[in-house]
Amino acid sequence: MIPESFIQDLLHRVDIVDLIDAHVPLKKAGANYAACCPFHNEKSPSFTVSPTKQFYHCFGCGAHGTAIGFMMEYAGMGFIDAVKDLAGRAGLQVPEEEGRRRAPQEGPRIADLVETMAQAAQYYREQLKASPKAIDYLKQRGLTGEIAARFGMGYAPPNGLRESPLDYNDPRLTAAGLLKVGDDGRRYDYFRDRVMIPIINPKGEVIAFGGRIIGPGEPKYLNSPETPLFEKGRELFGLPQARAALRETDTAIVVEGYMDVIALAQHGVGNAVATLGTATTATHVQKLLRQVDRIVFCFDGDNAGRKAAWRALENSLEALPEQKTIGFVFLPETHDPDSYVREFGKEAFNRTVAQATPLSDFLLRELGRQCDLTSAEGKAKLVADAKPLLHKLQSALLRLQIVKRLAEISGFSQAEVERLCDLRAIARAAPARAPRQSPAATFMKKLIRLVLQNPELALRLPLEALPPDHAETRTLRRLADAVRDAAEGDDGIPAYAALLERLRLAGGEEDDAQLRAAASDLMHEPFAEDEIEAEFAGTLAKFARDAQTDEIEVLKAKARALGVAGLSADEKARYVALLSTRGRAAGQGQES
Ligand code: UTP
Ligand code: MN
Repeated sequence: MIPESFIQDLLHRVDIVDLIDAHVPLKKAGANYAACCPFHNEKSPSFTVSPTKQFYHCFGCGAHGTAIGFMMEYAGMGFIDAVKDLAGRAGLQVPEEEGRRRAPQEGPRIADLVETMAQAAQYYREQLKASPKAIDYLKQRGLTGEIAARFGMGYAPPNGLRESPLDYNDPRLTAAGLLKVGDDGRRYDYFRDRVMIPIINPKGEVIAFGGRIIGPGEPKYLNSPETPLFEKGRELFGLPQARAALRETDTAIVVEGYMDVIALAQHGVGNAVATLGTATTATHVQKLLRQVDRIVFCFDGDNAGRKAAWRALENSLEALPEQKTIGFVFLPETHDPDSYVREFGKEAFNRTVAQATPLSDFLLRELGRQCDLTSAEGKAKLVADAKPLLHKLQSALLRLQIVKRLAEISGFSQAEVERLCDLRAIARAAPARAPRQSPAATFMKKLIRLVLQNPELALRLPLEALPPDHAETRTLRRLADAVRDAAEGDDGIPAYAALLERLRLAGGEEDDAQLRAAASDLMHEPFAEDEIEAEFAGTLAKFARDAQTDEIEVLKAKARALGVAGLSADEKARYVALLSTRGRAAGQGQES
């Protein structure tokens, strides 16, 4: 654990403008700096860096974060790695949190694990050259030495790393997931007698391995366990090798297997990546859509492949902005991308990718399969089944297209489909990001902006009085908690960037969207420093006034229904008090 105060020091020491400028040359644009976004393809710059608030925001793709976030996204580092990297640049020593300090012989440093993995990968590569059996296996799968080298493939001999130059008793080998310690305390190799496929991050570091058994047998693949270097749901196999081809084609092909990626590359299809034995996550989709405008999922032609495609669809809906497209390829049953490209070749494979089923077609087709569309009930079910998916969908345009098609298929009118699916509110709020905008939500969004610009205001929020059941309320509470914790510790009140990192450590990514939206608004239109106090007081006062009006209405309705005698003594007193403060407030309003 890295202490929070250190994160603050670090963000204080590193200037995000210098940091980003070293990777992506920035131009001054008003109070901020701008460049073409490194996270998605664009011709005019919408990537903006705020020197005063120390964060970046892309108005095109929504990429957003602090200096730490930039290193994570740009260099593909994990949080701890990014902190250590920045600390190194700033000449700071990363401290361990008091009480959790680990004995020096355990808990190796990240850099040591990276070094260990590099040495293991090199040993496995050498062993491949010395193993006719492994070489034969790869040849028989149609792979050349060149492609094996490009993917850094190797071979773990039956005695694993025992005869390698690595020290078998080094705790780094276990921490890196290369060795396991048995119940009897003995160490043994995780990977034995397997073809080794390194998983490489965008910095070029080996963070994990997949090991394939040679020939038939179980388990077919072994994957490194999660380690400080490796977090499965975030990583994609083949991403660094695919970079140039992704740029060229502006399309990412997502497949299921290591060997699919490698075989496609062997046949000249370089823009494929694979998830690592897990379902496609929204994080995967976001990561890819920063680099390309189109994703094509190409899964096996069996039932499992179809299921995987549906999961990918569900997880893509929320991560799919307008202008980006997603397609699905369903290979003939019995084929996977590897066998398909070997049998039919590159041209045929690229044709299937070009003719991929659009997301909306796949969605309607799959839903339709589960309904009897010849009956009225079946048509109603289709619309009902579509509702949750339509709500997840971020792209208003695509939603409209699907609604129109639903109307055609179901025989309902477009307006009826919208009503049945509760889409009216969403449509009215479009093109704004927020689905529904109540007056209370508008106030609270303003409060969030005010707190982000001046975090100490969080300590003065009337948290009890905020309306429950609002996403904004939760965000404001979390902001207030974070600021209070920091203020009570010796960290003082954090600035925006430090606040962002504090919230990251506290978890809770649901609030991200709220915070990003507020921060990007601030980037365009910050409050004038000398008006913040008045804005804050004014917003709270208006808020209280609205709440009072509601309360008056309730009491008034009750009095009307039951007669004044129907109100308790307390209620009567409250009613009178409310009316008189409202009168005063109105009077003041007229004077000023
Ligand atoms: P597949 O079973 O489709 O294997 O698993 P494949 O890619 O076609 O493998 P080959 O062609 O027989 O060599 C797809 C992916 O699922 C994960 C791996 O990531 C694999 O690439 N997997 C599969 C495992 O993690 N463990 C297994 O035992 C099997
Ligand atoms: Mn296969």
